[in-house]
Amino acid sequence: MGTVRIKMLKPGMVLADDVRDIRGRLLLARGRSIGPEHIRIFKMWGIPQVEIMGVAGDAEAAPAPPPDPAWLATVRKETERLFQHTQREHPAVQEIFNQAVLHRAAQGSFPAQVNLPIEAPAADRREPDKDFLEKFMEKDIALPEIPSIVYELNEVIANPLSSADQMAQVINKSPSLTSLLLKIVNSSFYGLPSRVDRVSLAVTLIGTRELSALALGINIISMFQSIPGSLITMRSFLQHSLACGIVSRLLAAQKNMRQTEQMFTSGLLHDLGRLILFIYFPQEALGALGHAGQHSACLYQVEKKRLGCHHAHIGKYLLNRWRLPLIIENAVCFHHDPEDAQDPVPAAIVHVADILVNALGIGTSGERLVPPLNARVWDALELSPSCFEVVTHQAVNQLNTLEFLLPEQKP
Ligand SMILES: [Fe+2]
Ligand SMILES: [Fe+2]
Repeated sequence: MGTVRIKMLKPGMVLADDVRDIRGRLLLARGRSIGPEHIRIFKMWGIPQVEIMGVAGDAEAAPAPPPDPAWLATVRKETERLFQHTQREHPAVQEIFNQAVLHRAAQGSFPAQVNLPIEAPAADRREPDKDFLEKFMEKDIALPEIPSIVYELNEVIANPLSSADQMAQVINKSPSLTSLLLKIVNSSFYGLPSRVDRVSLAVTLIGTRELSALALGINIISMFQSIPGSLITMRSFLQHSLACGIVSRLLAAQKNMRQTEQMFTSGLLHDLGRLILFIYFPQEALGALGHAGQHSACLYQVEKKRLGCHHAHIGKYLLNRWRLPLIIENAVCFHHDPEDAQDPVPAAIVHVADILVNALGIGTSGERLVPPLNARVWDALELSPSCFEVVTHQAVNQLNTLEFLLPEQKP
């Protein structure tokens, strides 16, 4: 018996031990012969290696060739700049930094999170707007209409007694939601062995709350079609949001939390307030972006200084108005200040997910630097820094399978 890395697996090899996903669900039992479909599912779940019969020691476990040292040094230096506000000596930050360097080096180019203004516009010179949140609440901005199905889904999520059939009935009322959900369910995001063509079956296989939370998040995000001007692209914003949702879900699973689906939605919606700023208050958003760029500051801190609140507070206001579950509202509200939350764990998960996704440079919601880690809430999470390797690997794979949710890249 020996350990074989997934990249080195060949169809026909026989498992010497069970392979399980992050939640302990059996993917393939020992003694089974591996087929190409199993290799695909292992990759999707980020399984790094498996035990194979008839292989000596770790002979096949040779790591991939390391990247060119000169290129690695360049990426490391550039990444260090992005980590200027984080405590590099913290063990969790060290591991996030390592994953960031490896991921960015493997991309072959260092994608600048730019097309953001460097020069502060004239609006930068005015006094900070301390009453922004109040102004925002008073200003009756015409937000997109929330489809009534969102409220119905909320009720299904909130009711612990709701059944798979009730859930399917709500989703079936919307043909567009039905087709989107079936597309997601049949993507390798869930790694189901055969095709699912009915919502009721999808609900049974995936779980009521999992599917409804997914539907809720996708529905809300897709209400916003585009971001005006060239602040950032909607594709880039959605990439950051989806990645944060996926990482939040994976971290919650690492902690054996039961509410992983609500963590997915929390991660997906965590920067919704910034989307509102970009779309409805472009002058303020541009001013904050320019100031952050010019002073190498974290964008959320600049927002707080200039507006008296930051995007997470705006997000909380919206989610509250839409009557989303409190756990999601609070995780979004406190993702930059998790210590202030009454239950800090959900907010801490999104907090850490946001740091990892910013570090990896997967899309952007406008932030150009890696936000600082709150060491106290990290301790409260009781996660090991070693989790970041497997979480990064899984997140990148799962994000690839959900690529179809992103708008096309404009040339
Ligand atoms: Fe944020
Ligand atoms: Fe974010």
